[in-house]
Amino acid sequence: MKVDPEGYQTHWHADEICETIASNRDTAFIFDAWDRLVQLSAAEGNPGRVIDIACGNARDVTKLSQMGWEAIGMDPSVQQLKDARAATLEAGQQVHLVRGVAEFLPFRKDVFNSLICKSALDHFVDRDQAMSECSRVVMPEGRAVVSANNYGGLTVSASRLSYRIARALWPAAREKQFFWDSPVPWQHTYECTFANIRDLGRPHFDVVEQYGVSLLWGFPGWGRFLSLLPNVITRALLRGSHETGRRLPRLADVCVFVWRPKPAKGQPAT
Ligand SMILES: C[S@@+](CC[C@H](N)C(=O)[O-])C[C@H]1O[C@@H](n2cnc3c(N)ncnc32)[C@H](O)[C@@H]1O
Repeated sequence: MKVDPEGYQTHWHADEICETIASNRDTAFIFDAWDRLVQLSAAEGNPGRVIDIACGNARDVTKLSQMGWEAIGMDPSVQQLKDARAATLEAGQQVHLVRGVAEFLPFRKDVFNSLICKSALDHFVDRDQAMSECSRVVMPEGRAVVSANNYGGLTVSASRLSYRIARALWPAAREKQFFWDSPVPWQHTYECTFANIRDLGRPHFDVVEQYGVSLLWGFPGWGRFLSLLPNVITRALLRGSHETGRRLPRLADVCVFVWRPKPAKGQPAT
């Protein structure tokens, strides 16, 4: 993947990460649950104008466009924007696509009712500047839905413990890079956790709500175990692990924050 001289990921493409993700049933389930929760949270209230910062293939804003929102997707990657264009055309939706980086948003202050930033914080060069920019462009009564994988959650901690045990027992495991190993894949600039995302938002946003998505995704053997069970049991287990993760965002596989911009200095809170 190419980065520009200042480190911006101008040519990221989803294929790079999809290769490393096993296509088990739990993977399909978690991505679907994550998409749905983010889309519903972003679409709260009457339809207005929504932006997806780091929109990738724009599936989230395409959904909001179908729900009557004026939708804008922004991403620095030409390849991702091409995929987004194809997907929005196929869905018959008019989504405005813009090339840009989160650290310097090419929009005026207070223009969006809703903002999505999903699975992207760990690609940014300057996360704090990006969050400051996000709060600048969201209207005072608007909302920002920010979410990422939780490297401080139960699954990652338990998985890393199991990798340590495997490496102690089997020399072959020492050479292997496992799914949740640290350091995270080279295209990620850091490990998001519930605590560090919460702290990143704190100077710029007030919390409206926070929740998690799923538990146990990517834990060694979990996907394989699920694949051996009858469909109905797999679905029940996935729903159960998702509901547990939803209530326990600090432990969940993904954390989702719904934030409102902090009132400007000297102005009363709305
Ligand atoms: C893992 S993908 C997530 C895409 C999409 N939000 C989703 O949920 O499928 C991360 C995205 O962040 C974009 N990205 C990387 N650096 C960025 C930056 N500085 N500003 C905005 N987007 C960036 C990449 O091009 C990529 O599309």
